[in-house]
Amino acid sequence: MTGKIPQPFIDELLSRVDIVALIHQRVPLKKAGREYQACCPFHHEKTPSFTVSPTKQFYHCFGCGAHGTAIGFLMEYERLSFSEAIEELATQQGLTIPRDMPFNQGTDHKPLYQLLAQAANYYAQQLRQHQAAHRAVDYLKARGLDGQTAAAFRLGFAPPGKNNLIQFFGKNTSMALMSKAGLVKATEGQYYDRLRDRIIFPIRDGRGRVIGFGGRLLNDGKPKYLNSPETPIFHKSQALYGLYEARQTHRQLENILVVEGYMDVVALAQFNIRNVVATLGTATTTEHIRTLYRTCQQIIFCFDGDRAGQDAAWKALQTVLPQIKEGRQARFLFLPDGEDPDSLVRHIGPDAFQDKINQAQPLSEFLFDKLESQVDTHHIDGLAQLAELAKPLISKLPESTFRAMVKKQLDERIGLTTQIPAPPPEIQRPTIRRPPQNTRTMPPLRRAVALVLQYPEIAQHSLPDHWQTLNTPGIDTLSTLIHQARQNPQTTTASLVEQEPDPKLRQHLARLAVTEITVQDDAAEQLRHILNGLLAKNQREQREQLVQKNQPPSQMSEAEKQRLREMYQ
Ligand code: CTP
Ligand code: MN
Repeated sequence: MTGKIPQPFIDELLSRVDIVALIHQRVPLKKAGREYQACCPFHHEKTPSFTVSPTKQFYHCFGCGAHGTAIGFLMEYERLSFSEAIEELATQQGLTIPRDMPFNQGTDHKPLYQLLAQAANYYAQQLRQHQAAHRAVDYLKARGLDGQTAAAFRLGFAPPGKNNLIQFFGKNTSMALMSKAGLVKATEGQYYDRLRDRIIFPIRDGRGRVIGFGGRLLNDGKPKYLNSPETPIFHKSQALYGLYEARQTHRQLENILVVEGYMDVVALAQFNIRNVVATLGTATTTEHIRTLYRTCQQIIFCFDGDRAGQDAAWKALQTVLPQIKEGRQARFLFLPDGEDPDSLVRHIGPDAFQDKINQAQPLSEFLFDKLESQVDTHHIDGLAQLAELAKPLISKLPESTFRAMVKKQLDERIGLTTQIPAPPPEIQRPTIRRPPQNTRTMPPLRRAVALVLQYPEIAQHSLPDHWQTLNTPGIDTLSTLIHQARQNPQTTTASLVEQEPDPKLRQHLARLAVTEITVQDDAAEQLRHILNGLLAKNQREQREQLVQKNQPPSQMSEAEKQRLREMYQ
């Protein structure tokens, strides 16, 4: 596990990275005035409205509203998590991330990654070269896989024999390290290769690094699959087989299919259905779902149609509920009895399989179908029971349009409202990001925040006395920003945005950082002007309050008071 990345390091990184170069490598940019432009990689367009500012170290699309720093760009474009994006930038800059947590200091997993990469190479090579490899190749062919697919997933072969891998690595590699990597196993003080005479499925993390292996027997023996044990870099509750490969082939995945088996992922890829991942013989966890929603907005869980599949799906539903934020969706695909995705795609072909994916059951439908199967909906007792069962589930959903719609559906189902046709249960709402706000209608304090964000250097200038005593909402944010900018005179817009720990507020700052503000004279003067205005207003309000307090007790008669009340009605 990794510790928190210290803010000063992130600042340092952002000050070294040039967002223009970073984006230009991925989306060719053209110079336009002081900025750079391209057609937006985040939505479809013909004329460029995607703008990158070298001074602000920020990108912004005037078409779809996407915006952010170098970190944000990598997260969106490469589908990386925050820490993955930082790691990527740090590697590029030749920097090592100092981690906050003391027990993490000095834990460097590089040797493990290197060892696993070498092992993966070895297995892949054995699939081509080993004298017994023809059995493995025949097996893969019999299962309908071609060399191209095998290569895309870097499938390999662990030859029969107890210590092929150990011999391959030789005496220079420590057994302790091999054991830590999960490659070998000790029996009575003697080390053996863990995977023997098996087809090897290398498991990669989101960045493509091999973190573990799954191995399948070539025959019907047991256990059919053997996987790497938990290691410092391999956690079954987090790993998703095929995620890297899926991210590689599609820039923008519309949805991702979660299946159970390695072979399901690989077989679907063989039929060019590549947006597929598998959990590694475990139930879908919160971590899995978090990772998947960073990759796309819609998860489709695929299960057997049998009882066990239904139960697993119900578990997945409960795990996914708390993560269905605005715009996200989950669907459920139940397969015919006795089929898994691998067998089904071969029986019905990729087009029919794709149709099934498209027709997968929306979460709300699965939820109500399941609950309604448990009660008698023809009686009010049953309907009351339905409401009781549904409520705790609905309350797991974060506040959103979707949640409101599910609630409404419940009311309709139990007859609390007239039966108007239900709206489509899950509408993919485009994430509407607000266009830049007009400065004229912008409240003064927000304008002040925008100024400091866009012209961090003005924080160095003197500001009116007592400005920090203002109690205008948002003053804390402004103080923090000014404080940060004063502490670090080299700070950039990007750093100021990234230092905000609260994601909602960060999003708000990011928006303000790209809002067009007209600066008449100089920005520092404008900030002073705003603060003076606020101070004057504050003083006026305080004076009025005092005057009110100073007034003697009302001399009005009851009749007069009544008249006054009537006048105000
Ligand atoms: N699994 C495992 N250990 C086993 C059996 C299964 O770890 N002994 C995990 C593997 O990740 C496997 C998944 O559970 O891919 C699904 O198992 P299963 O449906 O039995 O395997 P398939 O992927 O369908 O494999 P095959 O088609 O080769 O039988
Ligand atoms: Mn199978």
